[in-house]
Amino acid sequence: MADLTADLGFIKLKNPVIPASGTFGYGGEFLQFFDLDLLGAFVMKGVYSEERGGNEPPRIWETPSGLLNSIGLAGPGAEGLRGIIKEVASKTSTPIIVNVCGGNDEEYLEVARVLDVMEEVAMLELNISCPNVRSGGSCPAQSPSDTKKVVRLLKENTKKPLIVKLSPNVSDVPSVARAAEEAGADAISVVNTFLGLALDVKNRKPVFKNFFAGLSGPAIKPLALKIVWEVAEAVNIPVIGIGGIMTGRDVLEFILAGATAIQTGTVNIIEPTGSVRIINETLELMDELKIDNLEEIRGGLNI
Ligand code: FUM
Repeated sequence: MADLTADLGFIKLKNPVIPASGTFGYGGEFLQFFDLDLLGAFVMKGVYSEERGGNEPPRIWETPSGLLNSIGLAGPGAEGLRGIIKEVASKTSTPIIVNVCGGNDEEYLEVARVLDVMEEVAMLELNISCPNVRSGGSCPAQSPSDTKKVVRLLKENTKKPLIVKLSPNVSDVPSVARAAEEAGADAISVVNTFLGLALDVKNRKPVFKNFFAGLSGPAIKPLALKIVWEVAEAVNIPVIGIGGIMTGRDVLEFILAGATAIQTGTVNIIEPTGSVRIINETLELMDELKIDNLEEIRGGLNI
């Protein structure tokens, strides 16, 4: 049987499948569907320093082969999350990643510091790419210098491995990825959602109060795959590929494009056991194609 382990350097995962922030709650919600120990790791929903209510509804909108969301990073605040993390960690040994948010660099650091001292948290994922909280969908990941500044601040003041989650809503993602790497990022996760717009023709209004929203799902997979390939070519740290992954075949496509691991998103919302199915499918396809391990094909396109 094929070896499914995914070695990020700072941690070795039992498989490359990681449910993404915002699509998997805080993990505990999924215990009614499957054993979290089956996953490579999972990412808890992004958290700010203080509790946040999030955006006004509607918050999600189905599109052809996709999903627009405008949640607005609702959450219990860093201190409020501590109890949730302890509770979920008592039920699984799978590494927990927490998605770290902030309105400014100091808040990012404040949140990271609270989580950095928790032994239950294996890694931090820096969310500088949410399109739903600042005007016009802007975010720090749109600027290499803003990215470098905040990544450096966190790396100088925290100890946990830091994954930096990048935005596709920028003309040159590899230059932002390089900035994150230069500032000390341990890995890059890419892509967050694409800015999109849904309109209500009858009322001549945007569907979302925040106007734009973030598009995910199979509709973005080819776009995401292209960016993952470009970023993997540009940096020497591991890349975690994200974008419309629904099957084991999709996983192997992202690994071929250069990813070391992947995150599942929309699939968790429409099929709660989807990530486990994807792990099994990946293993079956590797056996069928006689691929012994993921490193054998990572970035190994015949071109
Ligand atoms: O609106 C949201 O909570 C989305 C977060 C994200 O894309 O990072």
